[in-house]
Amino acid sequence: MDYIINGGRSLNGEISVYGAKNCVLPLLAASVLTDEEVVLHNCPKITDVDNMVRLLQYMGKQIVWQDDTICVCGSLTNTAAPQHLAKLLRGSNLIMGSVLAKYGQINLPLPGGCAIGKRPMDIHLDGMASMGVQIDFADDVLLCRGKPFATTYVLRFPSVGATENLLCAAALAEYETVLCNCATEPEVEALERFLVKMGARIEGIGTPNIKVNGVNKLHGAEFDVIPDRIVTATYISAAVASGGEITVTKCNPSHLRAFLNMLNPRLEITEYQNAIKVKRSRMPVSYGKVITAPYPFFPTDMQSLVLSLAAIADGGDTQICENLFENRLTHIADELALMGADIKVDGNTAYVVGRKLYGADVAAYDLRGGAALVIAGLNAQGITTVKNVENICRGYLNLSDSLRSLGADIVFK
Ligand code: UD1
Repeated sequence: MDYIINGGRSLNGEISVYGAKNCVLPLLAASVLTDEEVVLHNCPKITDVDNMVRLLQYMGKQIVWQDDTICVCGSLTNTAAPQHLAKLLRGSNLIMGSVLAKYGQINLPLPGGCAIGKRPMDIHLDGMASMGVQIDFADDVLLCRGKPFATTYVLRFPSVGATENLLCAAALAEYETVLCNCATEPEVEALERFLVKMGARIEGIGTPNIKVNGVNKLHGAEFDVIPDRIVTATYISAAVASGGEITVTKCNPSHLRAFLNMLNPRLEITEYQNAIKVKRSRMPVSYGKVITAPYPFFPTDMQSLVLSLAAIADGGDTQICENLFENRLTHIADELALMGADIKVDGNTAYVVGRKLYGADVAAYDLRGGAALVIAGLNAQGITTVKNVENICRGYLNLSDSLRSLGADIVFK
């Protein structure tokens, strides 16, 4: 499937944001910690969430998905995750902590996900090993045995997924687990709040150092998935690329502080409690130096968007340094070059000189890079065809319909 974009239309109007993929996936994984009913609202019907639901159903969970609410209940009948589903998304590895905590064993095929470079799991495994879990590896499958017990563990890097797995593992572990150098992304904090709603005892929510006092049993809970900050940034980027004035509603501006700080001196941005208004009359000249790092610094998931914005900026230089995923720069830089972009990649840094781009046939190699190509296409002169749209659908709900509702000329074929 392709997106076909005729660039040059300005965007105007209002658009609301749905729940974050990176929040729903760990919450679904955590639902394994109880047999009681878990009810999640504001869930986007996107491929990655759909595949996570199918994975848990295959393992025995009863799941009903109605509108944007997912209800999960029952126990697992099988602790071996199916290879054909686990391979479809990186987030499949998030079930490790909760399945081990509840059942004391899991066979977990190495996860799939975007082609954005090596994505090791050493921190997940090292953390589980420090909780007494025995881990073997055979035929691309991790064989993990043993109920995690309380420990003190310092993550060598604040990995989002490893923090989420260790939190779930600790929730049912007897005594106090201390986790240091944890990720503090809003989605991690949401998981912590959700676990507390399930009856977990957690101190230090939203901070890098967390104490979890394990309980014997967790119960059902109801939770609103937090708004997707990357989708919010995508809509804002679309307005910057196209010009015009849009208001993004049902979002949380405080979750986009680094992104908004980058844009703020260059555009008219008004923040409300749950909305952001962006007005772009003149195209910014450049975006200075952007360096990705764990939250609260500039997110790697918004880096591709800035690369596109820098490529179409009004003649100035932008430097973008990607510190998390090594292949994230090269794929999209190569595709933007097909549209005439002036980008030089040296190691993990892209040196970009803004200029007018023209439409071309390009391919989405990963989720965020694919969305960024759409952003570039909105500004480019002529027709841009973005191929491999399946990669974008893993994380965006009807992106073309959303942009069309604001005035973009984009179709999905
Ligand atoms: C999550 C997000 C993803 C985002 C990323 C970083 C989900 C479902 N996905 O992915 O959208 O881009 O956070 O914000 O929430 N690392 C190791 N060893 C490990 C684990 C990670 O070296 O055991 C490295 C990774 O290769 C990467 C960095 O740590 O360089 C960050 O990865 P991590 O925070 O774990 O990302 P994910 O949880 O996979």
